Amino acid sequence: MSYTDKMLRDDALKGKVIVVTGGGSGLGKAMTKYFLELGAQVAITSRDLEKLKSTAQELETETGGTCLPLQCDVRHYEEVENMLQAVLKAFGKVDVLLNNAAGNFISPTERLSANAFDTVIDIVLKGTKNCTLAFGKHWIDTKQTSSTVLNIVTTYAWTGSAYVVPSATAKAGVLAMTRSLAVEWAKYGIRTNAIAPGPFPTKGAWDRLLPGDLAEKFDMAKKVPLKRVGDHQELANLAAYLVSDFSAYVNGEVVVIDGGEWLKGAGQFNLLEAIPEELWDQLEMMIKAKKRS
Ligand code: COA
Repeated sequence: MSYTDKMLRDDALKGKVIVVTGGGSGLGKAMTKYFLELGAQVAITSRDLEKLKSTAQELETETGGTCLPLQCDVRHYEEVENMLQAVLKAFGKVDVLLNNAAGNFISPTERLSANAFDTVIDIVLKGTKNCTLAFGKHWIDTKQTSSTVLNIVTTYAWTGSAYVVPSATAKAGVLAMTRSLAVEWAKYGIRTNAIAPGPFPTKGAWDRLLPGDLAEKFDMAKKVPLKRVGDHQELANLAAYLVSDFSAYVNGEVVVIDGGEWLKGAGQFNLLEAIPEELWDQLEMMIKAKKRS
C-alpha cells in the first residue's frame, strides 16, 4: 500500500450527486476524477465552459462515469441558482457541494487595487457563501436529510499569510462559515467540513503563485517536515471520505493535510533542525556545564 493508492471501496459514492466548483482543472479535477471512479455522478462548474467540456469528456472516458459541465461564475448568486437548477434537472437531486473554486495572486498588499482585493474575496468568500446558501436553502426546503458541504480552505486561514492577504482574509471567513453552519444546519442533516491542504502542486496555481524561477528558489518540499509535497490522490482520498457516508459523524471538522508544514513555521524552536547531529553533543556539554557553575 502507498499514499498514492485509492483508499475507498469501489462503490463508496454510488448513488451520490456531487457538485465540484472549479472542477475543470487542478485539484478540483483530481477530486472529481476519484468521485467518478467511486460511482458518483458529478457536475463540474467554472467560468470557462470549453475547458469544463473537455475535462468532462476526458474524465468520462477515463472513468466510465457521468460528468456534467456547467458554466457558473460563483460570484453571482443568480448564476449559482441556475447552476443548481441545471443539476437538479439532469440528476434529480444533489447530495454534496464541494466549494473548491478559488482565485489568488501573490502581491504586496499596498500594490493591490480595491478591485483586485474584492476579486479574490468575491470568488473565495462570496462564492462559497453563494453556493452554500443556495444549496442549503434547497436542502432545507425539500427536507433532504443527508447532505454535505465540503469547503477547501488553507493552513493560512488560521495564521494569515503575507503577500496573499485577500486570500487569507477570505479563507478565514470560509473557516468560520464551516464551523458555524456545522452547528446551525446539523438539525437539517447537513454536515459541513473543510480540508486545509498544504502544498499540492498544480500547473495553474503553481505557475501563477510561483512564476519564473521562484518555484526552484522556494522549494516548497523543503518547508515540509515530511520533505515532500502532496500527491493529488492523497487529497482525493480525504475528500472522498469526507463526502461519503463513512464520515457520517464528522461535522465541523477542518482536516489539515500538509505533511506538518504549518506547524513547522509555528514551533518556536523548530529552527534548531539546522543543527547537525555532531553539534548536539557539544551543546549538551555546554548546557550541562552551565548548570553546574
Ligand atoms: N496582481 C495584482 N492585481 C491583479 C493581479 C495580480 N497578479 N491579477 C489581477 N489583478 C487585478 C486586476 O488588475 C483587476 O484590478 P483593476 O480592475 O483595479 O485593475 C482585478 O485584479 C481583477 O482582475 P481580472 O483579471 O479582471 O479578474 P478576473 O475576475 O478575470 O480573474 C482571477 C481573477 C484571480 C480569478 C484570475 O487571476 C484567475 O483566473 N486566476 C486563476 C485561478 C486561480 O487563481 N486559482 C487559485 C489558485 S490557488
